[in-house]
Amino acid sequence: MRLDKYLADMHVGSRSEVKELIRKGKVSVNGAVIKDPGLAVSAQDTIEAAGEQIGYQEHFYYMLNKPAGILTATEDKKQQTVLDLFPENLRKKLSPVGRLDKDTVGLLLITDDGALAHRLLAPKSHVDKVYLAGTDLPVTEEDVKQFAKGLTLTDGTELMPAGLEIWTGDVKAEPFGKLITKTSETNGHLSLVTIREGKFHQIKRMFEACGKKVVYLKRLSMGSLTLDPALPEGEWRELTGEEVLSLQRERSAL
Ligand code: URA
Repeated sequence: MRLDKYLADMHVGSRSEVKELIRKGKVSVNGAVIKDPGLAVSAQDTIEAAGEQIGYQEHFYYMLNKPAGILTATEDKKQQTVLDLFPENLRKKLSPVGRLDKDTVGLLLITDDGALAHRLLAPKSHVDKVYLAGTDLPVTEEDVKQFAKGLTLTDGTELMPAGLEIWTGDVKAEPFGKLITKTSETNGHLSLVTIREGKFHQIKRMFEACGKKVVYLKRLSMGSLTLDPALPEGEWRELTGEEVLSLQRERSAL
């Protein structure tokens, strides 16, 4: 592969930005500064750009803390999408894994690894997603029972059993305590919901079936991947190698 394509594919910059880096003598291959963007390189070469080693990566994985008001889509003519939060040279081939409603915030995995995305989303994979929900009315023990049994939505859709835990405000509880410190972000009554499926507006419709309205919804985790409490809304970071490995080995805990 050409050196400039390798660097662009490894998200060092756009094709023209990496050509400029090469022209300025900031790129070396196996220890030698290279000024030819067309030099043929492979994953076996040691390639450095601006003093940083650029190893070969087949796929890219990012965690986004989705803010409200943004569409979970790759592009839209009118509205801002989650991919608009990424610089242009990173966007190529990236897609969000699953969909959060426009007003839902929190963890969204963004990757170009279609096989992993497919596996995480397949209902058969039973990957648990945990949400913090704020509702207009307090959640009851009866709701907890209904969720655990498997709810039937108002349109007759039957759901798999789901977890519902009334949030007691114990911010020391792990693993989500650090993510639920700002109770001021919602006026609702808080609870934790664990679902395996990902049906359209699922959590809103589950509470609707129990006579409640969701006023706030934040995804805290997807399988082994938990939202980084240090990641502000609207920001993203690359997953660590360990986070990627545990997602690849994902099995349901329930
Ligand atoms: N359930 C919902 O109702 N909305 C979301 O965004 C995610 C789950």
